Amino acid sequence: KRMVIFASGRGSNAEALHEAVENGTINAEIKALVTDIPGAACIDKAKSWGVPVIVADRKSFDSKQAFEQYILDAIAPYAADVICLAGFMRLLSSDFISHYEHKIINIHPALLPSFRGLHAQGQAVAAGVKIAGCTVHFVVPDMDAGPIILQSAVPVLEDDTEDTLAARILTKEHPTYVRAVQLFCDDKLTIDGNVVRGTQG
Ligand code: GRF
Repeated sequence: KRMVIFASGRGSNAEALHEAVENGTINAEIKALVTDIPGAACIDKAKSWGVPVIVADRKSFDSKQAFEQYILDAIAPYAADVICLAGFMRLLSSDFISHYEHKIINIHPALLPSFRGLHAQGQAVAAGVKIAGCTVHFVVPDMDAGPIILQSAVPVLEDDTEDTLAARILTKEHPTYVRAVQLFCDDKLTIDGNVVRGTQG
């Protein structure tokens, strides 16, 4: 499978995917990394992997449509089978998603449908939940929605802050994202309405 990764920041999930591609766990090749943030740390990571980097600075475009069209045109030559959003902080429009139906996967640091959106880990701490975690899901136009592929749970401790919980969730994000993308690239997943099947084999 031909993979393109979208990231906006540190890129630790992108790094986990790259490592899994390199060691043969994920049957794919990473064709490019797209980022909306010039100077993001994920750029240097991608360059160290020898992966082409596409920087689309949202401020350089006079509309979301132009921003997305630039990205669509830039990644078209890679003929991606899968787009992995790994800490990508932009919402993709229905039109963009329609170009890659059921081929865009995202990881969110909460047990969806709880705690959609930003600061999900902080939302969990504030809500006083005792279990938190991460969700890997197919991307649909609704934010942090879409058919769930895998979830992993971590305990929330009484003295947790957003940062201590985020660090604990992050340790589960990497293997969970790798397993989900591995299953996708091995064509093990089917989508039945809102239910993804093939993850428990
Ligand atoms: C991760 O916690 C991910 O779940 C969220 O943003 C963070 C990105 O971290 N969407 P990184 O850039 O992958 O290290």
